[in-house]
Amino acid sequence: MKILVLGDSPLGVGSALARAKMDMTVSSGLTHAIDCLGRERFDVVLLGGTPEEADVLCRSLREATHVPIAFVTSATRADWRQLVRLDVDSYVPDNVGEQEIVARLKAIARRCATTTPRELPVKAELSGNGRRILVAAGDEDDLCRVERMLRALRHTVTLAHDGEVASAAAREAPDLIVLGGHQATTDWTEVIKELKANETTRAIPVALVTPPSAVAERLKAIEAGVDDFLAMPLDNIELQVTVKLLLRIACYARQLRDYHEDMEVEVLRRTSALKQALRNTEAVSLDTIYRLSRAAEFRDEDAHGHIERMSHYSTAIARRLGLDEAFRQNILFASPLHDIGKISIPDSILRKPGKLDDEEWQIIRQHSPFGAKILEDSEAEILKMAHTIAATHHEKWDGTGYPHGLKGEEIPFAGRIASIADVFDVLTWERPYKRPVPLEKAFATIKEGRGSHFDPAVVDAFFDIEEEITAEFNWWKFIGFDSDSDQS
Ligand SMILES: [Fe+2]
Ligand SMILES: [Fe+2]
Repeated sequence: MKILVLGDSPLGVGSALARAKMDMTVSSGLTHAIDCLGRERFDVVLLGGTPEEADVLCRSLREATHVPIAFVTSATRADWRQLVRLDVDSYVPDNVGEQEIVARLKAIARRCATTTPRELPVKAELSGNGRRILVAAGDEDDLCRVERMLRALRHTVTLAHDGEVASAAAREAPDLIVLGGHQATTDWTEVIKELKANETTRAIPVALVTPPSAVAERLKAIEAGVDDFLAMPLDNIELQVTVKLLLRIACYARQLRDYHEDMEVEVLRRTSALKQALRNTEAVSLDTIYRLSRAAEFRDEDAHGHIERMSHYSTAIARRLGLDEAFRQNILFASPLHDIGKISIPDSILRKPGKLDDEEWQIIRQHSPFGAKILEDSEAEILKMAHTIAATHHEKWDGTGYPHGLKGEEIPFAGRIASIADVFDVLTWERPYKRPVPLEKAFATIKEGRGSHFDPAVVDAFFDIEEEITAEFNWWKFIGFDSDSDQS
């Protein structure tokens, strides 16, 4: 914790801070203090001197910083009267012993760190009258006295018995809680811990009424999270000062909560807009990919529906193999691009009726590396997979495929899946150079290629979904893309 001390600090506080080896900068004057606040981050500014002097310093500091300001008071009745008008965040009585002075300063820094909206524009209305205050005291006399004084300050007071403070606070959501009474009947420290541990009541400031001699009780209460103290017997001016400062904390906490709620709504709104924009971008990307793959298909006019069927088969096999949704989504949109390289093949070869000679086969085989070249070096996952499939969908499990003669698991999984889907569809639909084969024969060809042309595991998955593959084939026939097959 870092403290900036300004003004004549009473001896008790200065020596307490020095003995506790607290990180303290003693400022020589207002200009120097503002300069220090601009250069370094402080947790608390501690003002000394008379209330009149502190008032002048406080006004100037408020213009320059949001760091919380505490005033060292000699706790006389005259000081309390001045403090009512002083615009500080808290005070430290210098007559409570060194240990308690240090503990109180740490508590002020801790509290202000979570409730002072340093970066927010602070609204003028900070305390005022007519606030709701929950009072609980073990002793009926104390209870009546506190209630009477608070009502005189025109606050609305709700009374609670000592055993029901936490539930009453959660229900009533007061602006302030005042606890007091005799330690013998109630352990207020436990009540404070309960209030500060509960999300609903954590931000409500708590003041504890104690006799001046109850130093140990106050130190325990500071540990538990109490926000301030009132000394017994109660003094109405001290009560007025303490309540005013604690209501200021309540107001800060409320402003912060509202600010965070507004921010959450704004974040949700922007996230939703961003998701929509991403969905639109994704839809446009996928549409573009599909249209690009159609460009290749148009070169190969008699291959109508090939890319749609082939991508459906690939996705169905991937699902059967238990591959995750991202993989399935990628292969759905990547596999249609497997023959994109065909845009480099002359029509005279691509659409040649009848058999191709060896030289023409060499040329047509170039569609694989050429497609890979078109799709290489993309950062997009779909296009990375499309590149892989374009480069490897003619490789064979036994290493006799092209363009690189890759073998077994050297062939990427997506390429092994696309290979079966591609061959099966080419077999079952008419091409310029061939008639379609019956479905049974196409399935038999895939089975024959198990372990030679195709990955055995992928073939097994393909046959596990034979019904789905057949249904897809029949649906395409039904909608009019007749393969002119011998199938009925
Ligand atoms: Fe191909
Ligand atoms: Fe193909």
